[in-house]
Amino acid sequence: MIRTLFWKNNSVVMIDQNALPQIERPVVCADYRQVIAAIRDLTVRGAPAIGVAAAMGAALGALTLPPQPPEAFRDKFQAICDEIAAARPTARNLFWALERMKKRLDEVLRGQTKNPAAALVQEARRMCAEDIAVNREMGRRGSELLSDGDHVLTHCNAGALATAGYGTALGVIRAAVAEGKKLHVYVDETRPVLQGARLTAWEMKKEKIPATLICDNMAGMLMRQGKIDKVIVGADRIAANGDAANKIGTYALAVLARAHRIPFYIAAPLSTFDFSLTTGAEIPIEERQADEVTTFRGVAAAPQGMAVYNPAFDVTPARLISAIVTEKGILTKPGRAAIARLKRSVAL
Ligand code: MRU
Repeated sequence: MIRTLFWKNNSVVMIDQNALPQIERPVVCADYRQVIAAIRDLTVRGAPAIGVAAAMGAALGALTLPPQPPEAFRDKFQAICDEIAAARPTARNLFWALERMKKRLDEVLRGQTKNPAAALVQEARRMCAEDIAVNREMGRRGSELLSDGDHVLTHCNAGALATAGYGTALGVIRAAVAEGKKLHVYVDETRPVLQGARLTAWEMKKEKIPATLICDNMAGMLMRQGKIDKVIVGADRIAANGDAANKIGTYALAVLARAHRIPFYIAAPLSTFDFSLTTGAEIPIEERQADEVTTFRGVAAAPQGMAVYNPAFDVTPARLISAIVTEKGILTKPGRAAIARLKRSVAL
């Protein structure tokens, strides 16, 4: 199994996703600021993986705090969490993970534990293991959406690399394949950072799942030709009405899927839902640096000084989403009522 990140000897070890697919190498972060840098520069990326990295980063920060009264420890830990929270704005999992770590610290401090940092390390490691279990559960539940012989399109990387392991959208595909269904995956290259071409294609090859790489602008033609049966992607943040932010280009795929009457699915854990947001219009959308668009792996692909707009995510309205797969089940017609029911069914 691909282990995207794990805790080892008071460090966070992560696969360097910027080096893939050419080089498979680990990056070791022994300091929480290294984890922040790794989240910012996409060494670790994908909403659930960012969440686990943030939790582990917070644990690394806690380890640097000397023994002190609980209130002072809490304040310093809060400051570390605030720094980590500023790493990237869109993935809900980042904030969810930090909230959980702070909650754990409060419990631990109430219990007058001598070593709160050790408890925080334990919590971060638990979150890493839980993420894999949650993905497997999503796969188990979501595989019924995919049929033997399906050609499935995916965008960006919602695989093992975007999580602690196994994946959300690719987890559903993995589970269906493990059940014996023969699937073929179309992999959108996902401009400008190429998470599809570099990462999803790498995962598909590693697992020997039949897959074909296409440029983002080819999906419409393939749908028209009847070559795509289903679309499945992950999400970075889902609002209370079911609107879902995911990698830029996802919205266009959802519109195309609707025009061609193709089911459009999202697979995302509960940690991606932001019940506090009424609609997707409130989701903060990260804008990234111009050189992701103007250069191609260091080589100029546009005239110098060209104006660039580079939003990293877009929002797909709930009405275009056929179903959302979560670890608690499949939400068909995922509007406000279905999400309110989901919220009630879990104590978050
Ligand atoms: O900018 P990235 O690579 O972090 O964006 C990742 C995505 O958009 C994924 O599709 C999303 O996080 C879902 S991953 C399970």
